[in-house]
Amino acid sequence: MSGFLELLAGPTTPLYLAPQAGVSESPFRRLCRRFGADVVVSEFVSAAGIVMGTARSRDYLRFDEAERPIGIQIFGSDPTQMADAAAFVSEVYAPDFVDINFGCPAKKVVKRNGGSGCLRDLDLVHCIIRAVDDATSLPTTVKVRSGFDEATRDPVGIGLRCQDAGARALCIHPRTRADMYAGDARWSEIRDVTGALSIPVIGNGDIRTGQDARRMRDETGCAGVMIARGSHGDPWIFRQARAALDGAPSPADPNVEERFRICLEHARNAIAFERNPERAIIDFRKHLGWYTKGLPDGRRLRTELFQATTLHDVESLLEGYLAERGTLAPA
Ligand SMILES: Cc1cc2nc3c(=O)[nH]c(=O)nc-3n(C[C@H](O)[C@H](O)[C@H](O)COP(=O)(O)O)c2cc1C
Repeated sequence: MSGFLELLAGPTTPLYLAPQAGVSESPFRRLCRRFGADVVVSEFVSAAGIVMGTARSRDYLRFDEAERPIGIQIFGSDPTQMADAAAFVSEVYAPDFVDINFGCPAKKVVKRNGGSGCLRDLDLVHCIIRAVDDATSLPTTVKVRSGFDEATRDPVGIGLRCQDAGARALCIHPRTRADMYAGDARWSEIRDVTGALSIPVIGNGDIRTGQDARRMRDETGCAGVMIARGSHGDPWIFRQARAALDGAPSPADPNVEERFRICLEHARNAIAFERNPERAIIDFRKHLGWYTKGLPDGRRLRTELFQATTLHDVESLLEGYLAERGTLAPA
């Protein structure tokens, strides 16, 4: 059995860093692994892009050995193309599993029946999973929403179809595509799916604190817990979630100095990973925003950080901020 499936079958309730376009890239995945994420997943990669060999798609597939266990997530609505992409990814990149995205709500993806668009046609979902599973010897997993809209909301029915088609684990974000991110994720649906399926079910949605992870496990019986937005500027949430799951005291949030140190380490790795350092700094702005969220006078700092074009600029601004507050003696 693949190591990652053993993890899901074991008693520890693995914590997943969620697939997130533009966020769950290799440097952030490594950071979250260090802070206690047990499994990471790449952002979704277009099967068409993989098959055509576009440089951007291939870039998304790169990962470091330290990230394992890792899943590569693919999306598309053509079973043959999905199968070809899965075969290529398995052979060339050899992740620990291949995950299929049936959750993305973005208009341009749904329009072509990709992501959550597939949830309008469960026969198509079935065909895609079958095709992918036949094309790879790695475990095939899926990530779904509860339905396309209220009329098609049927988390258990969707889960059973995925299981029948060959999915080895299923992650559910219990909102529909029509919900986007509105309202609360319906954790009761995670419990229903967990109760109905024999494959491991990973719960996802609205984990903001370590305690939330424990609450989700206790309320739903899920085999794993996946965190997306709660990790933004807050990769140490995994350490706190692990403590909560184990019934141990929660490790404190890092102080500002420590937070900046982590942010800079993340930035350095992001620049080293990207082929174009200027692009890397621009792409990194969202993380700078998240790492400085809630700081006194944070808005002014963010305005300055968003104009930075080099790592040196970012370092100077963060050092200046600490020096102004007497947290750090100026160099
Ligand atoms: C910026 C961003 C990008 C995302 N990209 C993906 C993606 O590529 N694949 C996917 O399956 N879900 C994606 N999601 C959805 C998350 O994986 C997750 O299901 C959702 O955010 C709910 O979890 P949360 O409440 O912990 O944020 C994305 C979410 C965010 C916020």
